[in-house]
Amino acid sequence: MLEHVSSVKQLMDKKLLQDLFDSAAQFERLSPSDYPQPLKNKIIASLFFEPSTRTRFSFETAIQRLGGQMITVENGNASSSAVKGETIEDTIRVVNGYADGIIMRHPMKGAAEIAAKYAKVPFINAGDGGGDHPTQALLDMYTVHKAKGSADGLKVMIVGDLLNSRTAHALIYLLSLYNVEFYFVSPSALSLPEEYKSHLQKRSLEFSENESWDDLLADTDIIYMTRVQKERFDSNDEYKKYKDAYILDINVTNQLNKNSIILHALPRVNEIAPEVDDDPRALYFEQARNGLYTRMALLSYLFSEQLK
Ligand code: NCD
Repeated sequence: MLEHVSSVKQLMDKKLLQDLFDSAAQFERLSPSDYPQPLKNKIIASLFFEPSTRTRFSFETAIQRLGGQMITVENGNASSSAVKGETIEDTIRVVNGYADGIIMRHPMKGAAEIAAKYAKVPFINAGDGGGDHPTQALLDMYTVHKAKGSADGLKVMIVGDLLNSRTAHALIYLLSLYNVEFYFVSPSALSLPEEYKSHLQKRSLEFSENESWDDLLADTDIIYMTRVQKERFDSNDEYKKYKDAYILDINVTNQLNKNSIILHALPRVNEIAPEVDDDPRALYFEQARNGLYTRMALLSYLFSEQLK
């Protein structure tokens, strides 16, 4: 049984994913007045130590839609006791005593594992530094599932800051459950860490690392753009070198095949030109909305299982 979702690895189960997709699809069909209320009388703490719009709002909407209530810190590095030097473990120990579940985003890779170790209530990682972002991978996969049925047999291009993008890292793990071929496209200084490549090798999945996407666009089923993660760079000059390395504009989009889909976890900066937004292949705003349904599905799952 799933207790915490600190790592995407805990979601690496095709049957579990299918159950969560079915549940998300049901929430998508129902009108809010018909939603079940598995979080009734539950208080969920949402602790955000890094900026967020989609993740925090969709979690908080999901909690309230399911009948729960929240206590929330949305600027934890300025307004929580972290400013006074409190450790993650102490914060979690204390919040254990107030809340029935904890959702946390933190700038340090590995923070979620520490928090999960001390959490006595279900804990969900909403992004830890350049590490992992399991619920983003879940909503990305749900978007793929809706658009393509299954990821089996697809060629997936992941573009941009592959070194620091936790959304790319988490998605690679979930996609690796299926027979997917990967095209990784990044500047060599921002290439994918070894851990992910050796994982794909172990699963005998094909991938290539490329600095240019030119020859690959026509042969791509899913293009997943990422933002160059400004906050992970030591210097602004270094960030500026890479921030415009790949720009998906109309000219590039025209080279993609007509059945392909374009994804991005958002927020985007320059990497997708607004002129692409009206292309029917551009699914990134629908993807963001899917975050609500998949998070409702995950919360319902965690809390209904708990009641058994
Ligand atoms: C992403 C994140 O925080 O990792 N945003 C999100 O959760 N939708 C992507 C990003 O910030 O680039």
